[in-house]
Amino acid sequence: REYQCIVVSEAEGVGSIELNRPRVLNALNRQMVGEILHAMEHFDADEGVRVIVLTGRGRAFAAGADIDEMMHEDTVSLEMMNQFTDWDRLACIKKPVIGAVHGFALGGAFELALCCDMLFAAETASFGFPEVQLGIMPGAGGTQRLTKLLGKTKAMEWLMTGKRISAQEAHKYGIVNEVFADEVLMEETMKFAAALGKQAPLAVRLIKESVLKAVDHSLYEGMQFERKNFYLLFSSEDQKEGMAAFKEKRVPHFKGR
Ligand code: CAA
Repeated sequence: REYQCIVVSEAEGVGSIELNRPRVLNALNRQMVGEILHAMEHFDADEGVRVIVLTGRGRAFAAGADIDEMMHEDTVSLEMMNQFTDWDRLACIKKPVIGAVHGFALGGAFELALCCDMLFAAETASFGFPEVQLGIMPGAGGTQRLTKLLGKTKAMEWLMTGKRISAQEAHKYGIVNEVFADEVLMEETMKFAAALGKQAPLAVRLIKESVLKAVDHSLYEGMQFERKNFYLLFSSEDQKEGMAAFKEKRVPHFKGR
């Protein structure tokens, strides 16, 4: 499929998606969100892809939902359009998704970053939920995902003030895994992604599923779910290979079966 708002590529088991509307700082219009979802689902189904990397072209990751597109909507048009179901589907991607953020990640773009399983940020990255300054609030999971990550009090502060959060602060609060100098962000992200792509694919897949369950469910329920996935891995060839390789002191050769 031809994309207008994103650029996709694939190399060494890593599928990359770059947001590409740099003139408006990659403002997320509905078409772009649809294209991101399409590309993610395509990579998810592609056996050659092990890890998905999401980043922005130009001087920002993205400056949030497209205000030009959104400003004339009303409650009924939004309800009928039901645009956020795309976001529900984004949360169902099975392969690990790594976000690489430089410049702004505001509003809907911060929500998109929070959908990623891991985040790397450039020193100049800045995050924030400025919706409140537009008289609205996040609509694509921001209040939920931020609260689960930060706890109630900090989430309230960030969401109600719309303040800008530096990469360092985001790192301090566990929003990003690591902060890199701007010029090495992509190189380091791709290095991490390629290494992640060499881990046992089934184990990585079920770890993702289990961690997301922990975020979403009670500890007890999550542990029952984790246990089932743990048992399930013991019917894979990779479990036998991984443990045999350990005993034989050699590098395992995983096949994803
Ligand atoms: N929607 C549409 N256009 C946008 C945009 C957005 N979210 N963000 C930036 N742009 C456009 C600007 O209008 C400008 O276009 P023109 O050159 O045609 O005027 C261009 O991108 C460059 O932006 P600036 O000149 O403003 O760049 P700057 O460096 O001076 O400022 C900024 C950067 C602080 C990010 C500023 O652009 C800004 O505040 N943008 C809006 C951020 C925002 O409020 N995002 C939240 C949207 S609401 C949301 O996301 C809802 C949701 O949860 C679903």
